[in-house]
Amino acid sequence: MYKDYVIPAGTPISQTPYFILTHPGVFPEPHIFRPERWLDGGKLSNKLDKYFVAFGKGSRQCLGMKFVYPPPRTGPRELSALLCSPLG
Ligand code: HEM
Repeated sequence: MYKDYVIPAGTPISQTPYFILTHPGVFPEPHIFRPERWLDGGKLSNKLDKYFVAFGKGSRQCLGMKFVYPPPRTGPRELSALLCSPLG
């Protein structure tokens, strides 16, 4: 049962990342580039992590996620070095 819907046991359930990632209740003004939405009190926050489904979730989550993200605490200098490297 979900709200008024009766969902029989064994029914495959799916979700669409687009609708989660652009849900204004989770990400206000979702189409605006606003990196500070990931901060809380000026510090990186994990409060939105459960809604960040761009890489999927669970046992089949993207294996390349760690390659795509810059290392933690990457500042402007490290970021520009990464972006300007011959491999980047
Ligand atoms: C921005 C870049 C990327 C995005 C947004 C992305 C997103 C995704 C998504 C949505 C899935 C499916 C997850 C699921 O089924 O729940 C996936 C799977 C996968 N991704 Fe990525 N990916 C990215 C980059 C990469 C890179 C760079 C690699 C490899 C170095 C990679 C390797 C994989 C593999 C191996 C799977 C299959 C995992 C499995 O089925 O167990 N991805 N990715």
